[in-house]
Amino acid sequence: MSEKKQKAVGTAPGKAILFGEHAVVYGRPAIAVPVFEVQARAEVELGELGQGTVVHAKDLGLRLILTDGPSDNPLCAIVWKTLAHLEIPPQPDIVVSVESTVPIARGLGSGAAVSTAIVRALASYFGKRLTDRVISDLVYEAEQLYHGTPSGIDNTVVAFGKPVYFVRGRTLEIFGAKAPFTLTIADTGILSATKDVVSDVRRAYENSRSQYERLFDEIGQIAQEGRAAMESGDIQEIGHLMNRNHALLKEIDVSCPELDRLAQAALAAGALGAKLSGAGRGGNLLALTTPETREQVEASLRAAGAKRIIVTEVSSSCD
Ligand code: MEV
Repeated sequence: MSEKKQKAVGTAPGKAILFGEHAVVYGRPAIAVPVFEVQARAEVELGELGQGTVVHAKDLGLRLILTDGPSDNPLCAIVWKTLAHLEIPPQPDIVVSVESTVPIARGLGSGAAVSTAIVRALASYFGKRLTDRVISDLVYEAEQLYHGTPSGIDNTVVAFGKPVYFVRGRTLEIFGAKAPFTLTIADTGILSATKDVVSDVRRAYENSRSQYERLFDEIGQIAQEGRAAMESGDIQEIGHLMNRNHALLKEIDVSCPELDRLAQAALAAGALGAKLSGAGRGGNLLALTTPETREQVEASLRAAGAKRIIVTEVSSSCD
């Protein structure tokens, strides 16, 4: 058995989907970027002997004891899966604590970030090294337990911490933008459960397959063109593609008046593009801003009801 430390820490960023959400569940490509301005942090430390493996979610006021076997609780599920992968039995005396600044149910990958931080902290506590690939796969397995049919893009971008061009079930491609660009991320303040929106889209898809196949094809095409625009440093084109992607997301009925209002406010203030990000029906809007327009766009988004704004830079491949 490997060496236990007194304490170990694991962290993980949030994420934003730049192109291709929902269509990615149906095999089309999508692009996601890490958002390091928000972060999940897990800590594993020695507790009292006999207390068991305690899982403590500080922000949620939750304190759970790990049982020997899979669990319905997503936090216990990832702890259990990680220990099983490390071939370590549930411990009589450890505390796994998590806290996160990634807002919950807002399309910024909070579930994947918390799980990734837990896997990292546990591996480090037991003196083991796991590759990003293995971490991502463990998080994916745990996400499947409570997210239904995730495409796998959230765990991938969060575990690798780099922009990814992702096609479900295929080898992932990490790539870089030629020129850095800034995303201003505005929160509608509306909670949106990914699982519910994904299953609504599934129902609509089952009712109108050919229409949805066409819409998903168009979204997939945008993700491909988006990658080319990022690799050639064509910021105007990235903005244009974001607008087209938002229009298609409206067509598949995952936008909402608050998101559309934020998109209009951002564009009116000079953003080069704006789209919802993640499952939709609430959560966050992404606006593509330049140093000249950033302040105006931010003020306009706040006036249109944004509850919180995060500014993140998608760095270039040479940074
Ligand atoms: C959620 O971040 C993105 C969706 O495409 C669902 C998924 O890919 O699993 C809506």
